[in-house]
Amino acid sequence: MNILKLNKKAWDKIGGKVASPYIKHKKYLEVFNLFCNKLPKLASVLDFGCGSGLPFTKELVKRGFKVTAIDISETMIKEAKKNVPEARYFRVSMTKIKFIEEFDGIFSGYTMLCLDQKNFRISAKKAVKALKQGGVFFLALNEPPFGVNNEAENYTKIMGQKMYSRPYNEDEIRKVFSKFKMKIIKVDRETVSSKVYGDEHTLLVLMQKQ
Ligand SMILES: C[S@@+](CC[C@H](N)C(=O)[O-])C[C@H]1O[C@@H](n2cnc3c(N)ncnc32)[C@H](O)[C@@H]1O
Repeated sequence: MNILKLNKKAWDKIGGKVASPYIKHKKYLEVFNLFCNKLPKLASVLDFGCGSGLPFTKELVKRGFKVTAIDISETMIKEAKKNVPEARYFRVSMTKIKFIEEFDGIFSGYTMLCLDQKNFRISAKKAVKALKQGGVFFLALNEPPFGVNNEAENYTKIMGQKMYSRPYNEDEIRKVFSKFKMKIIKVDRETVSSKVYGDEHTLLVLMQKQ
């Protein structure tokens, strides 16, 4: 089974049973606030893998942004529509979006780690295309604890569901996004732990389209 199908199946099953713990994490919230502060008033924001919409789609709406949210999972989109009816939704993979210079900001909170390297490059290119000139991109994912990824360890189980999850290091992210003329304006890290996801080495990257 390809990894997009595997992950769709897993997240369809998980649905609203999990809410992101990251809004409670200090550094995560700091970089999220910085992202929001760099956006113009009433900015258009793409939530790149919105999950159930809680808490981040809701938070983006609360801060006055015009939010478009996508997710590969039908269940997640259904949940998010219930939880945050103010946003506009599309059930589509990050690798298949077709927006052109439509957004002031893109929020990708723990979603691009669901992609292998090829699909990461494809969706990064599409995301940059979807951003307006000067647009800001918030990217949060895990980095490998010892710096280097081990492909054999990229299959994991979350809430009993087998899925693909690949940590990316800073160099890999710089390499991909510099090709698309994205300037990195902030990098931060924090080690966190939660019941659902266990120990995670969060890598937070804020970028701007040149
Ligand atoms: C860990 S959750 C994060 C949800 C949300 N961004 C948050 O911060 O709470 C990962 C989400 O990414 C979605 N996802 C996984 N692969 C995707 C893909 N190829 N395209 C779009 N969404 C995807 C999953 O369905 C799931 O809702």
